[in-house]
This record gives sequence, structure tokens and C-alpha cells, in this order.
Amino acid sequence: MLTGNRTRIAEALKSQERGTEITVKGWVRTKRGNKNVAFIALNDGSTIHNIQIVAEPARFGDELLGRVTTGACLRVTGMLVESMGSGQPVELQAAEIEIYGEADPADYPLQKKGHSLEFLRDIAYLRPRTNTFGAIFRVSHAMSYAIHKYFNDHGFYYVHTPLITASDAEGAGAMFQVTTLDVEQPPRTEDGKVDYSQDFFGKHTSLTVSGQLEGELGALALGQVYTFGPTFRAENSNTPRHLAEFWMIEPEAAFYGLEEDMNLAEDFLRYLIRYALENCADDLAFLEKMYDEELTARLRFVVDNDFVRLNYTEGIEILKAAVANGHKFEFPVDWGLDLQSEHERYLVEKHFKKPVILVNYPAAIKAFYMKQNAPDAAGRATVQAMDVLFPRIGEIIGGSVREENYGKLKAKIEKEGMSESELWWYMDTRRWGSAPHAGFGLGFERLMLFVTGMANIRDVIPFPRTPKNAEF
Ligand code: 4AD
Ligand code: MG
Repeated sequence: MLTGNRTRIAEALKSQERGTEITVKGWVRTKRGNKNVAFIALNDGSTIHNIQIVAEPARFGDELLGRVTTGACLRVTGMLVESMGSGQPVELQAAEIEIYGEADPADYPLQKKGHSLEFLRDIAYLRPRTNTFGAIFRVSHAMSYAIHKYFNDHGFYYVHTPLITASDAEGAGAMFQVTTLDVEQPPRTEDGKVDYSQDFFGKHTSLTVSGQLEGELGALALGQVYTFGPTFRAENSNTPRHLAEFWMIEPEAAFYGLEEDMNLAEDFLRYLIRYALENCADDLAFLEKMYDEELTARLRFVVDNDFVRLNYTEGIEILKAAVANGHKFEFPVDWGLDLQSEHERYLVEKHFKKPVILVNYPAAIKAFYMKQNAPDAAGRATVQAMDVLFPRIGEIIGGSVREENYGKLKAKIEKEGMSESELWWYMDTRRWGSAPHAGFGLGFERLMLFVTGMANIRDVIPFPRTPKNAEF
């Protein structure tokens, strides 16, 4: 393995060799000992576990060992031997210690004692050096890899959809503007409006809220595609589940209906969680011990149980019955209203005790592109939307069948007052070789919240962007 003149600590700890000389490089977690021997716990990020370095002051001197403090970066060459102490299979008997970088205990912020997650958020540039964030970011890597592997193994092609866009895919209007105009003194048209024809792209542009619309173009040519990239939402949502910049995985498949879309979402989520259980066991065990004693039980539960599939209308009836029985929700429950996460979690955690896929939502609360159903028995308009609801998270996936009928889509766009002139290319796919198709979006950090058991979405992305916060 190419590891830069060193043995990764993950490999060293697994090694069956004894009495061989190896070199490890990493950051000091702790140092303890007495005047005869020092024990240094070294971590290089390759595993949650530290390697124990045994160093004799008689050999290295108090001056050098005095500079080996929490946070310092070292090279240690020595003999890998069976460990005398419990807690680790092997230890390294140091023959050479080189200090690459010291970390003065007088001002290095990460000391041996545990720090609060809030404090670590303020020093997000250093928190990957803690056990907690090392574990989280290794799990994050494993999930990204598993996402690509799943789609590759199932015949989906990865497409890069643009981040800068002139269209509002979700029609929610919560977009960040992208401009090179002088915001102090923008050029004006004759009627006094900002003249975006003089802007960089010659029109008003923003950061995308979703890669779906371009994903659909891919699906209507390559059959099955997915995007996996950053998306941006300028909603002022200060909740533990919202980010202004998050990563979304959006598969899109031609010839899929609602049933196929639900099957894909369920199989995909189960695969990812099983992948984490099988490949991130050490990190999950650490997170379970530190933050969430029910973590593996909850993950197993999703892997082992079928998701409940339910119409929105039935979901509302269940919630209304709960209210009638005295259950208090902060937000009202009525047909036509969107569900809040308290409602979603009630259905999942209290009523069914299983993940739920809620389908066929009122048309008025969902995006313009969703396939329209015939009016229901009460004459109400619904669309073939599909939200996957998870314990602790609420909505983890949002998706739908897409309206492939040109006339119906055009009527909807006009009704919503959207600009057809920006979506002409999208409309064209419904004019030429249109096909039934469906897809969904999985929020990567919502998945990470679920898999790691962390409570706040700011703790599962390296550098969170939230209202009033874009540090680092
Ligand atoms: O339900 P949403 O808005 O759906 C779409 O954007 C569709 N275009 C997806 C598609 O059909 N291709 O978002 C999808 C998912 C949500 O279920 C949630 O997991 C996540 O993206 N998400 C967020 N995650 C973190 N912070 C936010 N502000 C999020 N908004 C949505
Ligand atoms: Mg949604």
C-alpha cells in the first residue's frame, strides 16, 4: 500500500508480525507514565484506535519527551511487540522519535478532557483530530463510496449536473444568487430594474437547489442515472436537520413508476445501512458508546424490517386520530397541510414503529414537476410524490414520479406563475420521445445523522453552512 514511508496504524494494529521494525506517523492523543517509562497514544486517522508507543525517558531524554504533548505530530520508528497491557494487541517499542510539529499545551485547544460538541463546532478546523469526528468522517467516506458502488452495481450512470443554474427546480424560491455585478451599483434597465443581461452569464443565475431537472435529461437518454453533489438552500431554517449547503444523491430512472421508485429507495437505504454495519463497526461502536446507546439496534431495525407504504390521506387520518386521543402537536394537522417533522416522527416512531413511505400528497404542497393523479374520491388533486420517513430524522428522502405529459406540465407551470422561458429545454423532453420516469433525492447529511446517531446535522458535515455561519 502507498502510505508515505510509514505503516498506517490500522494495519499495524491488525498485523500478526512481532519483532519487526515499523515506522508510524501521527498525532499524540495522550501521554502518561512515570520517570521510567512513557506511554504515548498515537493516532493517524486510519482507525478509531490508537497505537501505544512505549518510550523510555532514559533513552530519549526529558527534554524531547517533554515536547511530546497532546496534539503534537510525531514519527516513531520501533519494534512492534505483543502488548503487556490489556486493551491493545500490540505496542511499539520506540527506537527513534522525531517531532514534526509541537502543540503547545498553553494554547492548543484540544486537550485530553472531553469537549462539548458545541465547543468543537467553533473549532471545526481542528475537530477531525478528535475521536468523534475521526469516526464520523470515516463513516462519511464509507457512505459516499457505498453510494457510488450501489449505483454502479445496479446499472446507473453518474452524471455531473451544474451547480450554477438559471432555473428553480423546486419552485421554492430559496436560492443563493450568483453574480459578478457590482452589488453597490448594478447596471439598470430603462425601467430601473437590475440589468442581468450585463451579468456574467447574461441572465439572473443562482446556486442550484437540486440536480434533478438535468438528471431527468440524462435518464431520458441513458435510462438510469444519478447525481451526487452539493445543493444550496437559502431557507432561514435553524434546525438540527437543515443546512444551507448539503449534498444530495438523486437517482432518476426512465420507465419507473411509483412502485419501482419506492422499491429503489427502500433497497438503496437498506444497502447503505447494511454497508455501514459491515464496514464501519469500530467507528459505530465508538459512537454508540459515546452518544447513542440504541444506535446499532436502530440500524439493524431498518435493515431487518420492511418499510410501511401509506397514502398521505391515511397518514392524516392517523394523525387526526392521535390529536383526538389527546396527543399534542405544535403544528396543526389537516388534509392539505404539509407534514412537519413532529408528524413524520409520530407516524414512524409511535404509530408504526417502522420506516414509512408516504405517497400521493396534495398537489398544492409539492413541486410543479410531480405526476398528477386523477382527482381522489373527494375530488382533491394529488401527485405521485414519495417521501421516506425515518426514526429521529423525519424526511430522509423526497421523490416522485415526474409529469411526462406536455400539456399537463405546461398547464401546471402556468398555474404556478413559473417562467416557461427558463424551462423550455425541460419542456422539450416532453415533446420528443417523452417517457414515464421517476426519481428521488436523498440528503447525504440526513443519512449521516441516521447512521452515526448524531443529533445535529452540523456535526456530520466537515464545515457546516447555516444562517450566519460560513466559517472555515
Ligand atoms: O425533498 P427535496 O427538496 O427534494 C428535491 O430536491 C427533489 N428534487 C429530489 C428528487 O426528486 N430528485 O430534498 C430531498 C432531500 C430531503 O428528503 C432531505 O433528505 C434533503 O434532501 N434535504 C436537506 N438536507 C439538509 N438540509 C436541507 N436544507 C435539506 N433540504 C432537503
Ligand atoms: Mg422534500
